[in-house]
Amino acid sequence: MKIVEKLSEMQNIAKICKRENKKIALVPTMGALHEGHLKLIDKAKSLCGPFDLVVVSVFVNPSQFGPNEDFAKYPREIENDCRKSFERGADIVFAPSVGEMYPDGFDTRINCGRITNVLEGKSRPGHFDGVCTVVLKLFCATLADLAVFGQKDAQQVMVIKQMTADLNLATEIVVHPTVREEDGLAMSSRNAYLSPEERVEVPQIYEGLKKLCEFSEKERKSEKLKDFLLNYYSRKSYFTAEYVEITDFSAKNIDEITDAGALVCVALRTNQSKTRLIDNIII
Ligand code: PAJ
Repeated sequence: MKIVEKLSEMQNIAKICKRENKKIALVPTMGALHEGHLKLIDKAKSLCGPFDLVVVSVFVNPSQFGPNEDFAKYPREIENDCRKSFERGADIVFAPSVGEMYPDGFDTRINCGRITNVLEGKSRPGHFDGVCTVVLKLFCATLADLAVFGQKDAQQVMVIKQMTADLNLATEIVVHPTVREEDGLAMSSRNAYLSPEERVEVPQIYEGLKKLCEFSEKERKSEKLKDFLLNYYSRKSYFTAEYVEITDFSAKNIDEITDAGALVCVALRTNQSKTRLIDNIII
């Protein structure tokens, strides 16, 4: 169990592991770890042998936040995060500072393509360029053989897979299903911002997605399905839908659902605390 703050130290440990033929599994996070993150650590552990290395990175990445987003108030709980990670069997928590990741003179940025013109990418310009830049740096620092990501951030998974394929990265991308609270709310570090009234209502986000799933058995047209869900959400008083989109598994909008299935993604903002939440379902 070790906390590493320096990139060079992280990479030296990784190089030693490689020489010893150990596998390295990475779970990239921005911290404030909840059970959703911890299930990704369990998954990484399950894919490793007893002598392999599981690294959890904790870094609130400034380059993926827009100017009016919550970078400053994003929860930071590094001591808890280390304790929880080690309890779940992580070997290393890699927690670099902003200056360590982006030193003076830093001047390179991944530029994502078409895949970010929709969904979160459209609502948050530049967000995925920042995500990919930091994820690539984390892959390089840890020399990860595999990295575990959550389906909760569906477009993030698609974007990272695209980058990994396009740049011939050697890191295997493993996806874990969305972990939910008992009432169906997708776990998120941002749930901590919710007011008590909002917290009671937001499980309706997933209820709506499940109802849409049922409705899609008789209706295949995307426009009709989107209207159905927007109408369902419009009757809720504590949140407002930002978008409802139906895409294929490479983030291309589709007019109609086929037997290949589809991804329904939603983003909402609560009315009191202005918390932005996302969720998705595969149909
Ligand atoms: P963060 O929001 O902390 O999430 C870290 C990882 O946990 C992501 O892969 C995310 O999809 C996953 N995750 C979060 N909530 C989950 C849930 N309820 N069920 C399953 N997985 C869940 O995503 C990021 O950080 C950042 O963009 C990062 C990839 C670390 C780059 O900065």
